[in-house]
Amino acid sequence: MPATTPESPDALSTPAPAAMRQPDRAPPRILRRMLALDDFEDAARRYIPRPIFGYVSGGAETNASMRQNRDVWDELAFVPKALVDSSRRTQKTTLFGHTYDAPFGIAPMGGTAMAAYQGDLVLARAAAQANVPMILSGASLTPLEQVRQHGPTAWFQAYLPGDTATITALVDRVARAGYDTLVLTVDVQVAANRENNVRSGFNTPLRPSLRLAWDGLIRPRWLLGMFARTLLLHGMPHFENMGPRVPLLSRTGERGRGNRDELSWHHVELMRRLWKGRLVLKGVLDKNDARIARDSGVDGIIVSNHGGRQLDGAVAPLRVLPGIVSQAGDMTVMLDSGVRRGTDVLKALALGAHFVFVGRPFLYAAALGGVPGVRHAIRLLSEEIDRDMALVGIARLADMRRHLLMNANSFDG
Ligand code: GLV
Repeated sequence: MPATTPESPDALSTPAPAAMRQPDRAPPRILRRMLALDDFEDAARRYIPRPIFGYVSGGAETNASMRQNRDVWDELAFVPKALVDSSRRTQKTTLFGHTYDAPFGIAPMGGTAMAAYQGDLVLARAAAQANVPMILSGASLTPLEQVRQHGPTAWFQAYLPGDTATITALVDRVARAGYDTLVLTVDVQVAANRENNVRSGFNTPLRPSLRLAWDGLIRPRWLLGMFARTLLLHGMPHFENMGPRVPLLSRTGERGRGNRDELSWHHVELMRRLWKGRLVLKGVLDKNDARIARDSGVDGIIVSNHGGRQLDGAVAPLRVLPGIVSQAGDMTVMLDSGVRRGTDVLKALALGAHFVFVGRPFLYAAALGGVPGVRHAIRLLSEEIDRDMALVGIARLADMRRHLLMNANSFDG
């Protein structure tokens, strides 16, 4: 694999459908300083206005789950195998009948198009060019039909109330748009307690105020390169894929999230009957729930605590992964929340995950560098995995098994 350099747009050579072949802006020089996924966060803090950055970067209440998501990886240590010929390493991973170029994809994130210019389309195009999946959030500002046209590797993630008519209409719309994989998020029964959003003046939709105007004015690159550019070229963005079509900036608009706390297994069974494609549940943390999902005909689950953004104190997904894998049978088990390094990916695979998703760093990369920024971030993670595979002593990800790990705080023998 070549050394990491930010690509010129011309180097994005994967054959692409017409909608994806739009010119990307030249790779910004700032990408040269982005050597790891964590590097994007600080740079993004200086680019994105405080309330929007706070919304993206923050968790719920004390951020306990968010911290655990990052710390848990250090509890496992590698026990590498020496003298293994790993020269023919491959990361190709087959998931639901598609062979992707890496064992990771882009997690769904709401409101990406308020942080990054054309954020949903940028993420979808970069993912398709890199041949990894991108999950479009239901809380997005771009019509789901348009995103799928730009990103043939896109999946759609729904937030749904326990209401048959809404579920039926959404499933129908997603199918007509050509998606093959539908993700239902199951950890959003009610809105989370995100005090940081209240403190920073964040709301969806954004409420016009002097404070918000000031927050935008002191981020002039965002104000011109993202907000003014969006308004001039595309008009005011709207929440397009969930509830009423509300503008991003509105004094009175309400998103109307519906009775999500009424959603139950009964609705999953309904979705299973209606949806002919792959059905995935995101936000499962309990092994008995994994078994019920399997028995309900669900194709895959994403073990997730929503990046620490919903129930504060919800367990880090890695801790419950082995138990869930033991109940999953032939259902595909994936994981998100706190994955930032190639070593994190390998640890999750060793504990039985088939695939992982990464969220926030890819959004920061989209804000800072558009499609080339996201391609750069994908390449960084992919190169880490490649290097780590060689150092651990495996050539295939299927060989990343538990015997290559031990508890970092115990002594063998
Ligand atoms: C949306 O999914 C959010 O976590 O804000």
